Amino acid sequence: MDNRPIGLFDSGVGAFSVLNKLVEVMPNENYIYFGDSGHNPYGQKTAEELQKLCSCIVDFLARKEVKAVVVACNTATVAALDYLQERYYLPIIGVINPGAKQALRLTKNKKIGVCSTVFTAKTHGYLNDINKISNDDNTIKVYEEGSVNLASIIENGFEYNEENEEIIKEFVGRFTDDIDTLILGCTHYPLVEDLFAKYFKGNIVDPGMQTAIETRDILETKNMLTDRNEGYNVKYYVTKDVENFKNVAKNLTKIDINDIHEVSIEAELNN
Ligand code: DGL
Repeated sequence: MDNRPIGLFDSGVGAFSVLNKLVEVMPNENYIYFGDSGHNPYGQKTAEELQKLCSCIVDFLARKEVKAVVVACNTATVAALDYLQERYYLPIIGVINPGAKQALRLTKNKKIGVCSTVFTAKTHGYLNDINKISNDDNTIKVYEEGSVNLASIIENGFEYNEENEEIIKEFVGRFTDDIDTLILGCTHYPLVEDLFAKYFKGNIVDPGMQTAIETRDILETKNMLTDRNEGYNVKYYVTKDVENFKNVAKNLTKIDINDIHEVSIEAELNN
C-alpha cells in the first residue's frame, strides 16, 4: 500500500486526456499534474532538449514525492521514456506502448494510421513500438502523419470553427490507404476526438484509457495502490500563464483545477 500521489506531465493541457482516464480507473489516488506550457510545443524540439526538460520535470515530481510518473505526452515518451527509466527508480509509464497494443487488438485489416506531432511521426514512435510488439510482423502497415500546429491550437483553446475543422479533415484525409484504425498519437488530440470521429469512421484509439489501466496494473503488481477510500485530488504546477491554462482546461475536464501554482524549472534547465 502506498498513499503518495501519482505524477503526470505534458507540454500543457494534453495530459487532461490521460488524467480524465486515470481518475476513472483509480478514483481514490491523488495526482500531481505538471503542465510545461512554458516550453510548448514539444513537437518542435530535439530529442536532447526533450530529455533535458523531462528529467527536470521528473526531478520536480520526485521532490513532490510521487510514487510513479505517467509521461502523458507522446512526443516526450518517444524522446525520453527509455532515458528516464534508466535514470529513476520510480515506475515511469509512457503512452505509446499502451496505444500501440490497443491498435493491434482492434485492427482487422492490419492497416493503422497515426496522427501525431511532427517529432513523433519523424522518429517513428508508433511504428517502432508496433514492430516490437508484433515481432516485426511485416503484414502490418503503419502510416504516420504529423501536424505542425494542431497541438498548439488545442493548447490555446480550440474553437469549433470551419478553419480548425478543416485542419482535422485535411489531417485525417492524408491517409490514402484504407486504414481501419487511427491512433490519436498526441495527447492533445483526444480532447477533440469528436472531430476526428466526424472524418474517420473506423476504430479510433485514444491511448489514455489503456495507459490508465496499465498504470493501475503496474502499481497493483508492486503493491503500491492506495488504501484510501475518499476520492482523489489533483494539484497542478504550470510553467507559464496559469490563467490561460485554467481557462482552456476548464473546457476539457470536469476535474477541479483550483489547486494550481506557477513554477519555473529554468534554473535546473540551465544547470
Ligand atoms: N501532447 C504532446 C504529445 O502527446 C505534444 C504537444 C506539443 O507539441 O507540445 O505529443
